[in-house]
Amino acid sequence: MSSSEPPPNVPVTPHVGKALPHESAVGHVTGAAHYTDDLLPRYADALHAWPVQSPHAHARLSQAAIDDAAALAIEGVVTVLTVADVPGANEVGPVAHDEALFPEEVMHCGQAVAWVLGETLEAAKLGAAAVVVDYEPLPAITTMRQAIAAESFLTEALVIESGDSGDVEAALAAAPHTLEGELEIGGQEHFYLETQAAIACWDEAGEVFVHSSTQHPSETQEVVARVLGLHRNRVTCQSLRMGGAFGGKEVQANPVAAVAALGAHKTGRPVRVRYDRQLDMTMTGKRHPFLARYRAGYDGDGRIVAFDLQLYSDGGYSLDLSKAIMFRALFHCDNCYRIPNLRVVGRVLRTHKTSQTAFRGFGGPQGMVAGEDMLARVAQAVGKPAHEVRALNFYAEGDRTPYGQLVRDAERIPRIWSGLMGSADFEARRAAVAEFNASHPHEKRGLAITPVKFGISFTTSFLNQAGALVLVYQDGSVQVNHGGTEMGQGLHTKMLQIAADGLGVTLDQVRLMPTRTDKVPNTSATAASSGSDLNGAAVERACAQIRERMAEVAGRRLQVPPMDLRFAGGRVFPFWCAPGHPDHGASSLGFVELAQQAYLERVSLFAAGYYRTPAIHYDEAAGRGKPFHYFAYGAAVSEVEVDGFTGQFVLRRVDILHDVGSSISPLIDRGQIEGGFIQGMGWLTSEELIWAEDGRLATRGASTYKLPTLGECPEAFHVELLPMAAEPAVVKGSKAVGEPPFMLAISVREALREAVAAFAAESNAAPVELGCPSTPEAVYWAIEGVREGRAKQVSAAE
Ligand code: MTE
Ligand code: MOS
Repeated sequence: MSSSEPPPNVPVTPHVGKALPHESAVGHVTGAAHYTDDLLPRYADALHAWPVQSPHAHARLSQAAIDDAAALAIEGVVTVLTVADVPGANEVGPVAHDEALFPEEVMHCGQAVAWVLGETLEAAKLGAAAVVVDYEPLPAITTMRQAIAAESFLTEALVIESGDSGDVEAALAAAPHTLEGELEIGGQEHFYLETQAAIACWDEAGEVFVHSSTQHPSETQEVVARVLGLHRNRVTCQSLRMGGAFGGKEVQANPVAAVAALGAHKTGRPVRVRYDRQLDMTMTGKRHPFLARYRAGYDGDGRIVAFDLQLYSDGGYSLDLSKAIMFRALFHCDNCYRIPNLRVVGRVLRTHKTSQTAFRGFGGPQGMVAGEDMLARVAQAVGKPAHEVRALNFYAEGDRTPYGQLVRDAERIPRIWSGLMGSADFEARRAAVAEFNASHPHEKRGLAITPVKFGISFTTSFLNQAGALVLVYQDGSVQVNHGGTEMGQGLHTKMLQIAADGLGVTLDQVRLMPTRTDKVPNTSATAASSGSDLNGAAVERACAQIRERMAEVAGRRLQVPPMDLRFAGGRVFPFWCAPGHPDHGASSLGFVELAQQAYLERVSLFAAGYYRTPAIHYDEAAGRGKPFHYFAYGAAVSEVEVDGFTGQFVLRRVDILHDVGSSISPLIDRGQIEGGFIQGMGWLTSEELIWAEDGRLATRGASTYKLPTLGECPEAFHVELLPMAAEPAVVKGSKAVGEPPFMLAISVREALREAVAAFAAESNAAPVELGCPSTPEAVYWAIEGVREGRAKQVSAAE
């Protein structure tokens, strides 16, 4: 073969890389796409479930003493589920087994202590209100500071420590300058449009089928099996699609499914559980609020020499995924910066609140915000523009992170940075902002650029595996099963593209099947942004096996060595007779005909593909390893205008340059970048969870919890994908995109900081104390702070 010939039996890729719409886009907007609860009409005799919620944040009760007589007297109430109905374990915790499905010790306000099943939802609700529970209230811990004082912890201290000069204390002592900071970082409600939902039924053989809006069907299956005391092979869990999940259905879908399955077990009838918004907000976990305390050492140029960071997270009442989430916070406090001496210590606090859980970025955003807060303060302290101080501290090729991982492709950070500074016209706009601010005493603009480096892989190494099952029928039509779940992120679209190209067929020949545990077992959650990396590689491998077998058959028919055959456009042909060649028709074979022929020749037309990420590991005790397969990079420029009387602001313009490798699906990736950014912006600028002192969540709906809407979106929004960015050793050279863009929104908070600083007479008059979330109220107080700082300085000079 000459060197210009394509490599043997490699798929042509007419679909991968194409800007296709989401495979369910039409269904999403017309309402034709079904979600779990839309399946309810199929189950005519289904019962409805409603919880009895605790009014106390912390209390004791006796399950045996729960009085359901009044509830059962209500018409339509069928039964009340308590611990007595559990045939297996009364335990639904995902990692640690520390969550009772039916508690005797209530651990947060709104926790379900029993469930009422009714012929109608109304009956179930009336029944739940009539159940009498005798609570013995106990003292509750409802703030992080209370938890720290009470030494109420869910984990030991998790540590990463590294230093050029031995230890951080010595480096701090030797640093030319030091500063201290403290920052409380708010949590975030997932507010997926589709609330938690499950429908369970028993079939005639005594086996359970659960429809669940879950990111993690295998774990939902496991928890249902655990509660019912069954082997997992008797439980099938299906996740059709989710109307958003964002991490909130990674583990917290499990108890919902368990209640449905338990109800079905007790009554023999299908049981449906679907939270309304208030239930969802009061019962399920959120993004962890964090408390960060730090000391930084730096030189006169703003070069960081030491960073000592203490992180606390509010884990709520049980462990959930809080430990891994804290680890990811530790792994991301460095962001794109080389910090020669670092100590970061993280500890998860136990409070009497909902058990906080995975949320897009998985602790990474909180760690990164703490690091960026520190850099911004250092920049202000040395009197240099923040973007210069940031660039000064960038990792360079060959550097390692504090946990010892080589920062491969570190050159992408400055490449993205300077590319974006250029395309966003940063320097000219900075001058324009200064000019605007000089002539506007009551409105100030701020412009900021921030980078992102986000590690891709589950940091729990064994989770980085995936499987697929691809079936080709005699008529050449194809079914693709894989372990990943669709939550709107476009995973199924990418899998369709990979499968179509893997078999050389058209998209309409391929059907993507609902995710089910009886097709691919022992899957990981679709999370950590690695859904397409892992499942895509598994689908590709399954297709390659089938292609190889079919090529043998086609080779005999066409009298061509199999390795010279190509699969594309629904035909199989020797590479020298590609479509367009005059002999293409005569020397090729249709995929449909080939499938038929393979069947007649008794050649298997289905295959399982399996993939595991190579060469990742992490040693918790040593705080060293290579937890990530690679890093995803990006940067964003945001410009805001702030009103000095109210703290209100508008986002005037956003420019993003983001690294998705070689995009499998550019339209999908663009959607992920825009959506991730806006969700991050909501977290940092408007969404504020408020818990009352007694532990009740005061923000229980969209009326009190301010989500970003179209009105808060940037007036100009420019998103570009980094060109020439193929990632070796990832399927199709692509990169994960689900979470990294979320942290691009830190640029909004930093732009607000710039604007706030401009309200001071001299920009360095006082450090900007900006709350997080930086709501208009927080911005207002920050402005007051710098004005007071100015006043103080003036009076000190007098
Ligand atoms: N995009 C949409 N539309 N809806 C979602 O629920 N979840 C995010 C992200 N993008 C989410 C989303 C989160 S938290 C993760 S981890 C990834 O998608 C998971 O999917 P992936 O691994 O296929 O990217
Ligand atoms: Mo995403 S927070 O990893 O589900």
